[in-house]
Amino acid sequence: MTQSGAAADGRNSFIYVVAALAALNGLLFGFDTGVISGAMLYIRKTFELTTVLGYSMNASVVEGIVVSGAMVGAIVGAALGGRLADRLGRRRLILVGAVIFFVGSLIMAIAPTVEILIVGRIVDGVGVGFASVVGPLYISEISPPEIRGSLVSLNQLTITSGILIAYLVNYAFSAGGEWRWMLGLGMVPAAVLFVGMLFMPESPRWLYEQGREADAREVLARTRVESHVQSELREIKETIHTESGTLRDLFEPWVRPMLIVGVGLAAFQQVTGINTVMYYAPTILESTGFADTASILATVGIGAVNVAMTVVAVVLMDRSGRRPLLLTGLAGMTVMLAVLGFVFYLPGLSGAIGWVATGSLMLYVAFFAIGLGPVFWLLIAEIYPMEVRGTAMGVVTVVNWAGNLVVSLTFLRLVEGIGQTGTFWLYGALSLLALVFCYQLVPETKGRSLEEIEADLRETAFGSDTSDRSSVVETDD
Ligand code: GLC
Repeated sequence: MTQSGAAADGRNSFIYVVAALAALNGLLFGFDTGVISGAMLYIRKTFELTTVLGYSMNASVVEGIVVSGAMVGAIVGAALGGRLADRLGRRRLILVGAVIFFVGSLIMAIAPTVEILIVGRIVDGVGVGFASVVGPLYISEISPPEIRGSLVSLNQLTITSGILIAYLVNYAFSAGGEWRWMLGLGMVPAAVLFVGMLFMPESPRWLYEQGREADAREVLARTRVESHVQSELREIKETIHTESGTLRDLFEPWVRPMLIVGVGLAAFQQVTGINTVMYYAPTILESTGFADTASILATVGIGAVNVAMTVVAVVLMDRSGRRPLLLTGLAGMTVMLAVLGFVFYLPGLSGAIGWVATGSLMLYVAFFAIGLGPVFWLLIAEIYPMEVRGTAMGVVTVVNWAGNLVVSLTFLRLVEGIGQTGTFWLYGALSLLALVFCYQLVPETKGRSLEEIEADLRETAFGSDTSDRSSVVETDD
C-alpha cells in the first residue's frame, strides 16, 4: 500500500510542501538584494549621510556602506553557517536565520540614525548568509533524487521572485518615499519561514549522521512512499560516516576537485556581472537616455524575465540535466555581453538605444536564469560528501558573497575607467572563460542519489577498490 498523498510514480506530495517552505530562505535573500537600491533614494532624504559616528565622510561612501553592509553580514553568515548547519542541524539553523533576518529588518525599519540603519543591514545580512547556505543544503538532503534538481532550484526561483517583489514594493512605496516600509516588509517572509519551519522535519541525512537512525527513518517515511524508505535508508547507511569533516578535509585528494569546481562556479557566477544588472539596471538604462520611470519599469521587466526563465530551469533541471543548462546559459551570456558592449559602442543608435539595451539586458538575464543562476546553488548542494557538505558549502558561499561585494563595489568605477563597452566586454571574456571551465570540470548529477555522487568521487580518486576509504557499514541483506 502506498501512503496518502503519494503520486503514482513513487513520490509523496508532502515533500513539495517541505521544499516550497524551505525555499522561503531564497525569498529573504532576493528581497534583501532587490530592495536596497530603491530604498536608498529616500534614505538619502531622511538622514544626513555625511557623518558616521561623528566622522565626516563623503555621502557616496556612506551610501556604499549602507548598501554593502548586508553583503559583509552575508559573508560572515556564510562563513559561520556551514559549520553551524553541521552542529545545530539544518532545520534549527533555518529557524535561527529567520529570527536574525526578522530582527535586522525591524532594526532598519525603526532606525533613528544612520549608524543604527547600518547595524540593521549587517544583522539582516547575517540572516541572509545563513539562509544562502542552509536553504539549498536542507532541500537537497531531504529530496528524493529524481526531483532533487527541481526542488533545490525552487530556492533560486524564490531568490528571483524576492528580487522582483522588492522592485514592486519599491515602486509601490516610492510615491510617499516610505523607505521604512520597504525595508521592514522583510519581516513578513521571515515570520512565515520561522513558523512554517517549526512544523517541518529535519534532514534525514543529518539525523543519520548524528546517530539518530530511527528519526531519519521516520522523516523518510513522511517524505517518501513506503516502498522507497528502506532502500534509501540503506543507501545512506552505506555511505555516511558519523564523524563530521573539518576545513582540512576539503583538501583531501578525493574532495579537492569538487572544491575547485565549487569555488570556480561561485566566483564565475558573480564576476560575469549579474548583480550589476540586479543593483544598477536603472542607472545603466538612464545612461541610454531613458527617463526615471521608464528605467524603473524596464527594471521590473528585467526582474520578471529573471523569474520566468528560472521557472523554465526548474522544469528542465531533472529532464535535460545540469550541464546542458549551464553550458547553454553561459554561451548565451557570453554572446549577449558582447552585444551589450557593441550597443554602448555605437554612437548612432541614440533613439532606439534604450530599447536595444533593455532587450539585450533581458536576454543576458534570461541566459543567466536558465543556467549559472540555479545550477550553481544546486551543484554545491550535491557534489560534496556528507561529512564535509556543510563546511564546503560555507566556504563556497563565502566566495560567492565576496565576489558579489567586489563586483558591486567596482562596477561604477569600472564604467568610469573603461566605459560601459569595456566593462561588458570584460564580463563577456570572463563568461567565455567560465564556459571552458564548466565544460571541462563540472560533473552531471542528474538522477543520481547524493550517495551515488559521493561514491563516484571516491572511485575517480581511488579507483574501483574503495575499501580503505569507504568503510561500508555491514548490512544483513
Ligand atoms: C543568484 C546569485 C545572486 C543573484 C541572483 C540573481 O542567486 O547568487 O547573487 O542576485 O542569482 O537572480
